[in-house]
Amino acid sequence: MNLLTPITLGAVSLENRVLMAPLTRMRADNEGVPSPMAIEYYAQRASAGLIISEATQISELGKGYPATPGIYSEPQVEAWRKITDAVHAQGGKIFLQLWHVGRISHSSLHPNDGLPVAPSAIKPAGKVYTASWALAEYETPRSLSLDEIKQLRSEYVHAAKQAQLAGFDGVELHAANGYLLDQFLQDGTNQRTDQYGGSIENRCKLVLEILQDIIPIWGSGRVGIRLSPYGSFNDIADSDPQKLFSYLINALNTFNLSYLHLIEPRATTAGGSDQLLADAPRTGQLFRPLFAGKVVLAGGFDQAGAEKAIADGEADAIAFGRLFISNPDLPRRFELNAELNPYNRATFYGGNEKGYTDYPTL
Ligand code: FNR
Repeated sequence: MNLLTPITLGAVSLENRVLMAPLTRMRADNEGVPSPMAIEYYAQRASAGLIISEATQISELGKGYPATPGIYSEPQVEAWRKITDAVHAQGGKIFLQLWHVGRISHSSLHPNDGLPVAPSAIKPAGKVYTASWALAEYETPRSLSLDEIKQLRSEYVHAAKQAQLAGFDGVELHAANGYLLDQFLQDGTNQRTDQYGGSIENRCKLVLEILQDIIPIWGSGRVGIRLSPYGSFNDIADSDPQKLFSYLINALNTFNLSYLHLIEPRATTAGGSDQLLADAPRTGQLFRPLFAGKVVLAGGFDQAGAEKAIADGEADAIAFGRLFISNPDLPRRFELNAELNPYNRATFYGGNEKGYTDYPTL
């Protein structure tokens, strides 16, 4: 019963190792203000050792889907404050996931800023949701200038400060799943010829700079990072993921972070399919030995698989996504070996209370 034992991640002490994975639910308003329903939704799940919030955009251009929340405006902070207060009132802890989607977006989602931005002007394969929830072709993104990268760093700093005002316990830098920071890391999407492109050192530079920028705000023990080596979601690819992520994880060791959060690529399309890829590389096995701090693993875990990963030393804690959507009291159910509610994929994204706050507790 490792999962139900306490653990300390940096400066944050948790009652158990059953973490709630970041889960986009697309129920915020047009201004990126979380819905009042989110107060109950997160409070219901406060028994997680740690809740990692749904991905939350740091700026208007950081938005890539309709109805996702932000953290850059005052009304957004006020709404998040009610959520963190409700989680804390239930004895829970919650980090904010800092998000910029980069090219995984559509210009209709940021009418004042135009085209999505990216390290390089390379159009993703696949389809995108516009602001009116219609499926459209991706546009070719605009490549960020060096001045705009400076501006981007200041937006991460602003968002990290806003997260503090909103009462979070820490922040997780979203550098996974083919979004902006992952687009900088991987050479399928980063073909820059300046100091942010080319060599692995250059491609990792932006992620490391942003960590350097936000650690003084939060303290390193309240900053985590999420990576998805070998993931292919959002048309992301690298010519040598092992070398790239080994370099990056080694570099992360200098920061003394709260945790490193790795996604297992066997959970295809970042949780979009129920099928697990049996022959996918095992992130925990490959990269755990390289990291000096605490490792959180996610992706296709059930209780037994999670216990095994911790017992085998592949992870210190496990983040559960889809099971936490349908089981607000997941740690208690694990403790009692109770049956789990099945999740309903149709209500994952958008809509109302249905499939959001109405899953029963024991
Ligand atoms: C996700 N995932 C995800 N990841 C992330 O870093 N930020 C996010 O906002 C989201 N949003 C999201 C929404 C939904 C509905 C799903 C199903 C998934 C990925 C998620 O955190 C997790 O890595 C995967 O779901 C795999 O874990 P499970 O579901 O197999 O436990």
